[in-house]
Amino acid sequence: VIDIRKLYGQTGAFTYDPGFTSTAACESAITYIDGDQGVLLHRGYPIDQLAENSSFLEVAYLLLNEELPTRDELDKFGYTISRHTMLHEQLATFYRGFRRDAHPMAIMCGVVGALSAFYHDSTDITDPKQRMIASHRLIAKMPTIAAMAYKYSVGQPFMYPLNELSYTGNFLRMTFGVPAETYEVNPIVERAMERIFILHADHEQNASTSTVRLAGSSGANPFACIAAGIACLWGPAHGGANEAALNMLREIGRVDRIPEFIARAKDKEDPFRLMGFGHRVYKNFDPRAKVMKATAEEVLNELGVTDPIFDVARELEQIALKDEYFIEKKLYPNVDFYSGVILSAIGFPTSMFTALFALARTVGWVAQWNEMISDPEQKIGRPRQLYTGSPQRDYVPLDQR
Ligand code: ACO
Repeated sequence: VIDIRKLYGQTGAFTYDPGFTSTAACESAITYIDGDQGVLLHRGYPIDQLAENSSFLEVAYLLLNEELPTRDELDKFGYTISRHTMLHEQLATFYRGFRRDAHPMAIMCGVVGALSAFYHDSTDITDPKQRMIASHRLIAKMPTIAAMAYKYSVGQPFMYPLNELSYTGNFLRMTFGVPAETYEVNPIVERAMERIFILHADHEQNASTSTVRLAGSSGANPFACIAAGIACLWGPAHGGANEAALNMLREIGRVDRIPEFIARAKDKEDPFRLMGFGHRVYKNFDPRAKVMKATAEEVLNELGVTDPIFDVARELEQIALKDEYFIEKKLYPNVDFYSGVILSAIGFPTSMFTALFALARTVGWVAQWNEMISDPEQKIGRPRQLYTGSPQRDYVPLDQR
């Protein structure tokens, strides 16, 4: 028997770690997570403090530039971002090639990847100035791209950005504004959206960020890398979980049906899981879930929405937190548990939930991509494998098989 690993030079120390549960693929100074304590820090700042006190653009600046901006730096950054919010007019034609019922994530994968065909200067990744311009372009254009995907799906005309509004106010207007009326941005809804964006801005080496890094490690242009991140985020085990959590809450429907679903979640014969519960890294409260719950309360009060699914969510959380199964397995609500309730109250269809996640995570993706490309030690990412196939054998002619 030939030892195939020796044959192909696979000798020496080899780590087999499916799902990368205990392998660090890079060094990074952007985000720190302590999953046992339920701690999430961006450049050292706790996520709850950022969500409470800062704007999304402040967090974007922090992730990209290592420090919180001064007032002057933030004004300049906001101005720069606002100068890049427009899409090339030709891209509107590209949207029109999609079916009206196309999923917004399908449109976003295509449109973001296509940006490289329009902004050739930004594809020069050897120039740090161009890398920063590409990052600004992506952060600025994502709200326009996501809002246009929504407008296209409901058959309304695209709305151009109105740059005197805030980043998030502009996005809300481009999404929900109808040209015939003057859209008034509700400050409570605007603040809630800012918080949701901040809570999703970065989460170290999650699947989509690792995808962006891997794509970028080959020298691919930033638009192609972010399109790869969007594709990865689309999956239900990643960005699609908030949609699944909302659907589950709707299916439960009433508080008196919760015990039935808790029993199902504990039954190993039943594939059902409590969506929005559990996390690969957090074995304690996801610190983002606490902020999300408070935000849900604020938005529902402000909009006068009395959605029974919020009562279901609150009660379900209380019951699960006292249940032996969930305690023993350290299953707590994650960021997705309450976010769907808020987004649905604001008026977003569930198909837009993951697109909003992509909009916010673009900040983390470009920060991580810049950090990687700036590292002089950076190499192409090339995982190895544990080969389990046939040993070497000789070719058998077709008529002798
Ligand atoms: N409901 C019921 N049981 C659960 C749940 C849940 N939501 N999550 C985990 N478990 C159980 C598993 O059945 C398993 O039990 P066992 O040890 O008896 O086999 C144990 O807890 C460990 O679960 P794993 O799937 O091995 O844990 P992993 O770290 O791989 O998975 C994950 C984490 C995928 C998030 C999981 O908790 C899950 O499926 N949750 C629901 C989906 C969800 O909310 N995803 C969003 C994640 S956050 C984000 O992506 C932004």
